[in-house]
Amino acid sequence: MKPRSFVLLIAAGCAAQRNSAQQATINIDLNLRHQTIDGFGISAAFQRSSDIRGKKGMSPGNTSAILEYLFSNENGAGLTILRNGIGSSVDTSRDFMNSIAPESPGSPDAPLNYMWDGNDTDQLWLSQQALSYGVQTIYADAWSAPAYMKSNKNDSNGGFLCGVSGTEQVCGGEDWRQSYADYLTQYLRFYQESGVNISHVGFLNEPDLIVYYASMVSSGYQAADFLPILRRTLDEGGFAHVQVTCCEATGWQTQADMLTELQLGGAEDDIGTVVGHGYSSNPGLPFATDKKVWQTEWADLDGDWNAHWDVLGKAGEGLPWANHIQRSLAQSNVSGWLYWQGAENTTGNSALISMYPGDEVHVSKRLWALGAYGRFVKPGSVRVVCESTIALLHSTAYETVEGGLVLVVVNNGHTDWDVEVVVDGGRGGGGKVTPWITNNEFNLTATEQIDQGESGWKMMVPARSMVTYVV
Ligand SMILES: *[C@@H]1O[C@H](CO)[C@@H](O)[C@H](O)[C@H]1NC(C)=O
Ligand SMILES: *[C@@H]1O[C@H](CO)[C@@H](O)[C@H](O)[C@H]1NC(C)=O
Ligand SMILES: *[C@@H]1O[C@H](CO)[C@@H](O)[C@H](O)[C@H]1NC(C)=O
Ligand SMILES: *[C@@H]1O[C@H](CO)[C@@H](O)[C@H](O)[C@H]1NC(C)=O
Ligand SMILES: *[C@@H]1O[C@H](CO)[C@@H](O)[C@H](O)[C@H]1NC(C)=O
Ligand SMILES: *[C@@H]1O[C@H](CO)[C@@H](O)[C@H](O)[C@H]1NC(C)=O
Ligand SMILES: *[C@@H]1O[C@H](CO)[C@@H](O)[C@H](O)[C@H]1NC(C)=O
Repeated sequence: MKPRSFVLLIAAGCAAQRNSAQQATINIDLNLRHQTIDGFGISAAFQRSSDIRGKKGMSPGNTSAILEYLFSNENGAGLTILRNGIGSSVDTSRDFMNSIAPESPGSPDAPLNYMWDGNDTDQLWLSQQALSYGVQTIYADAWSAPAYMKSNKNDSNGGFLCGVSGTEQVCGGEDWRQSYADYLTQYLRFYQESGVNISHVGFLNEPDLIVYYASMVSSGYQAADFLPILRRTLDEGGFAHVQVTCCEATGWQTQADMLTELQLGGAEDDIGTVVGHGYSSNPGLPFATDKKVWQTEWADLDGDWNAHWDVLGKAGEGLPWANHIQRSLAQSNVSGWLYWQGAENTTGNSALISMYPGDEVHVSKRLWALGAYGRFVKPGSVRVVCESTIALLHSTAYETVEGGLVLVVVNNGHTDWDVEVVVDGGRGGGGKVTPWITNNEFNLTATEQIDQGESGWKMMVPARSMVTYVV
């Protein structure tokens, strides 16, 4: 009977017109803890930092507006991770990222000739801006080693780091691994001397992909040939506190397979965080590791600019991204989640904010989907067990460092739901709950506070909405 009447309701187009909300329970158990959160973020690599700062005409007021949207806890997404690109190119033509040692020193044993320009295509400036908003996690990732360290003598078009297994012949026996480790360490030193402490460093980006821009190929075994050298060089250089990441594969499955090779190669303990992208396969099963896991790059790269939440069911709308982030946290055990670009002069969805055609600021609902976590689920928060009696209320809960509770619910249903939240773990007992709502109408907007009872609270979660409840 039940399935049949449900089908009839849908067929009659009445599903969203029910006059009484449905009922469900969400149980939170603060004693059952999952992963600790490192944060949420974006990149501004490929000179997007310069674009945001105004190199191509962005006015100072709009530069500030973008920074507020990305990093502010009051007016924006409260993002807490910035992913910078470590350059490998000989210049900054097109949108290339320049190397800190563009010229070959002649041999792998010779000291590198560093050329620090004091701004690194304005990523230093953006890092300083992020720090001023309280961001503490600056992740520097190299897309490639400089050309002279590689098998193809070009920082683009793939090629291997000379010295890893399988490169003996093509590199004429040269081993540039120590030199590359020195290079990455020196990059951290330049930043530190400029007042910015980088917390995480990576040496690969999409090593399963060969492209016309900076790219370097690697298997998990080949990564394992380099990781111990990088780890030792960082430790000896005074950067023992910096975490090494690997391997930024284009998709979750490729990264899972690279991780297996890296583990077989004996280098798992040289990394602090396993990093993968969401493109070629979406975040799925958790990686088989005890290391932290981040999803470090993902975006809708196909659609036209889309600032909507839930209108036509397009891939660039906000609600699908609320679900992507939710699933990455709940199913893929990620501690960090990054969209690709923060802001770009673009007519597509590669960024959360569009500056197109050059001095304008257009904010997508994707920004608010990320902000529903970024503003409240701060670094150090721990995800706790959170179960809904109805699956379409996709929910995760977090205990913050200060002992606060954050519940994020994505209601994929077409009806409102009356929900009773039951909080175990000796909590409950008074206090106010503030709901922050994002949907077609609202952009992470605070609504009327709810009084908490002895064991939790009652709330109404509107259809096709994402709500962050902050206790
Ligand atoms: C950044 O450095 C480049 C040299 O690589 C220079 O041309 C540019 O003017 C600098 N930008 C700023 C804002 O200092
Ligand atoms: C960066 O780290 C160094 C060494 O740990 C520390 O002395 C310094 O205060 C830090 N700087 C900032 C801006 O946090
Ligand atoms: C690297 O490859 C690009 C083509 O993607 C080419 O334009 C460039 O000249 C090459 N650089 C060197 C140093 O060979
Ligand atoms: C989740 O990640 C944490 C590290 O953040 C790890 O200790 C734990 O084992 C992982 N759990 C699963 C189910 O993979
Ligand atoms: C933005 O991009 C468009 C083309 O996509 C270009 O015509 C315009 O000059 C760019 N504006 C700025 C300020 O970069
Ligand atoms: C800034 O962006 C807004 C909104 O897109 C736009 O209307 C305005 O012309 C831009 N420039 C200034 C100086 O505010
Ligand atoms: C939310 O953002 C959209 C698009 O940026 C805008 O049109 C709308 O007015 C905003 N709504 C509120 C309630 O601020």
